[in-house]
Amino acid sequence: MADDTRSTDLRSAQWYGGDDRNGYIHRAWMRRGLPNSAFSGRPHIAIANTASDLTPCNAHLHEVAASVRDGILEAGGIPLNLPVVSLGETQVRPTAMLWRNMAAMAAEEMLRANPIDAVVLLGGCDKTIPSLLMAAASVDLPALVVPGGPMLTGTFQGRALGCGTDVWRLSEEVRGGTLSQEEFTRSESSMIRSRGHCNTMGTASTMGLLAEALGTVLPGLAGTPAPDSRLLEGAHASGRLAVELITADRRPSTVLTRGSFHNAIVTLAAIGGSTNAVVHLLAIAGRLGIDLTIDDFDRIGANVPLLVNLQPAGTYLMDDLYRAGGLLAVLREVRDLLDPDAITVTGLPLVDYLDGAEVWDRDVIHLRDEPVQSDAGIAVLRGNLAPGGALIKPAAASPHLLVHRGRAVVFDTIEDMHARIDDPDLDVDADSVLVLRGCGPKGYPGMPEVANMPLPRKLLEQGVRDMVRVCDGRMSGTAYGTVVLHVVPEAAAGGPLALVQNGDYISLDVPNRTITLDVADDELAMRIPNAATIDGFADPVRGWERLYVDHVQQADTGADLDFLTGSSGSRVSRESH
Ligand code: FES
Repeated sequence: MADDTRSTDLRSAQWYGGDDRNGYIHRAWMRRGLPNSAFSGRPHIAIANTASDLTPCNAHLHEVAASVRDGILEAGGIPLNLPVVSLGETQVRPTAMLWRNMAAMAAEEMLRANPIDAVVLLGGCDKTIPSLLMAAASVDLPALVVPGGPMLTGTFQGRALGCGTDVWRLSEEVRGGTLSQEEFTRSESSMIRSRGHCNTMGTASTMGLLAEALGTVLPGLAGTPAPDSRLLEGAHASGRLAVELITADRRPSTVLTRGSFHNAIVTLAAIGGSTNAVVHLLAIAGRLGIDLTIDDFDRIGANVPLLVNLQPAGTYLMDDLYRAGGLLAVLREVRDLLDPDAITVTGLPLVDYLDGAEVWDRDVIHLRDEPVQSDAGIAVLRGNLAPGGALIKPAAASPHLLVHRGRAVVFDTIEDMHARIDDPDLDVDADSVLVLRGCGPKGYPGMPEVANMPLPRKLLEQGVRDMVRVCDGRMSGTAYGTVVLHVVPEAAAGGPLALVQNGDYISLDVPNRTITLDVADDELAMRIPNAATIDGFADPVRGWERLYVDHVQQADTGADLDFLTGSSGSRVSRESH
């Protein structure tokens, strides 16, 4: 039945508002469960849900979605479940990063193609929030994020387990002979205590908190542990807010400004967040046409103190951060460094939410004048080994290695590294610099988290616990070590990393922001013809991997596909026929 009260203002009215055959079809097929009032000016709001049994960190998002749904209905909207591509970091091969851009592209196209007026984005595990924000930025419909939240802390042998970080630690202890294989296996059932994503300051925790720092989350919600009832309360309020976003016409392009990226970079340093946030923030900014560069991370983050004492840089875990006051209490300490004009999805500036925030445990959230570490930002290195830049996270590195010179031990692929790293005859000592190439966006393909390569067993047995490592890949946000990563250009794109030979000296100088291959230019030029013979670089025959290798950009611009940067808005190219 046609209804005279149908709104023509809403985007969804382009589908439901007409009396022609198309309007009839759009309405009639949606009547299963929707009342006639659903087509009478009520906003239609998608719940873009990354819940999946194969993404264990997000499996609880169906329950979160139910609370969002209640909030939308209560505010007069029509909630619509929209399952989107979900990426389980621990399950998806060869690396979830290969699929981030695909997830973003699929979500963008489905948001645009469907009759919706706004979207609530439900993510958690590493790539899910970045891909959803990239999609929302490009389609530019009113949007907000509900982060799924971290899991509770598990314990093993009386000691808290940081998932991710302690996997690396325990496995190194097995290799070093200080933990038995049996104990290692037994720890497995203690690692994941509850629903939710990794509980260290890994990529999922970082991106949930940065989504709030960017202004895309209801302030105070990010970091709420997944099993905490306050997550559902926040999800309900987020559903209500989604309806308000439409009335206010508040879109990603309104909320996500250069100022909000400034706030995200300050936050990244203050929380000691994952280096992966750099590629994700660059990719999101790229969708908005905001000229963000890796140098902004060094410049803005340089004087920001590390205030959060969480693994992998520190001691505690995400539910400790929440109990200690959460993100807003951290940001209150660095309020003067934040952009006061950057707004949130509520329409109010982020800084307006800081007044009531208190620090309840000063060992978890340090006060400004007693930081965990001063100047905690991610450092951008340049030199003849990384002309386009490389990153290091000093907060996760060993201070005595921040200025270091050592002989290169080179691995051409991750498989080569695994085959030889524990070889007793490997020519390596504690001062060596481990080089792993073929792990960039094109070379792997997908830029896996392998830069924190394991140390040679014979050195572990000597008590060595950190070495300088250089790689064109990424590192898990839960990992630690003196790791130079995201080297640009990557070896497979003709970067100088492809020219390094065993025994070459490499100099790292983090205070002066340099990474240098101590080989003369003319010698390097002579090596170029041979560099092309390095095998192991990917050359996919078809499908997504072919598209990806042909179009992926380097890490310094966010490793997005070249044809996905920018925005197309929400307009569909043609009506259905
Ligand atoms: Fe999902 Fe760590 S595996 S957040």
